[in-house]
Amino acid sequence: MTAKLGLLVSGRGSNMRAVLAACAAGRLPAEPALVISNNRDAPALTTAREFDVAAMHLSRTTHPEPEQLDAAICANLQKYAVDWVVLAGYMKKIGPQTLAAYRNRMINIHPSLLPDHGGPGMFGMHVHEAVIAAGDRESGATVHLVSDVYDQGAILRQARIPVLADDTPATLAARVLTAEHTLLVETLADLLTGNLKVPDATG
Ligand code: GRF
Repeated sequence: MTAKLGLLVSGRGSNMRAVLAACAAGRLPAEPALVISNNRDAPALTTAREFDVAAMHLSRTTHPEPEQLDAAICANLQKYAVDWVVLAGYMKKIGPQTLAAYRNRMINIHPSLLPDHGGPGMFGMHVHEAVIAAGDRESGATVHLVSDVYDQGAILRQARIPVLADDTPATLAARVLTAEHTLLVETLADLLTGNLKVPDATG
């Protein structure tokens, strides 16, 4: 069976693009059904439309109450019969209704080797600055299940890359991002084909 994917994005959408391209090329047994962004100007929304994927803006602007927004996100994912949800650079917390509906079927990608350098405030360049400031010799990316605590759901897969002596946050970010694209597609492929089993606990 071809799984239907819902992707939640906030900005650039390069991880989303990697997933959409893999679906289009038949490298993922999945069909992207819906892209949701909290940012109406997200380049990711334009990319989704390029791939002919339904794309919508849902945010505190369209739904001022958090419960309304959570309900709208959940209702749309269900309307499009989404089986798996991928947070691909989504900068907002998932509400309890959506989380309950997709528990163990919602994954996130984070640009560090969790549990290091995760949690509130750890996004974008802040992560890579923290890795370099800590003197870490290694960084990477993590795909994990989404739980109700930021970056703390069960870890599914990680990609490791060395931190080079002359790395800046920007050079490190670029290499991690390339690794993310492969990691996200491979992890999804393994989840969808049953090669990777979801752990019972979601952390
Ligand atoms: C990625 O580094 C991802 O790990 C993090 O947000 C970034 C999104 O980048 N959660 P992009 O929008 O996929 O290009």
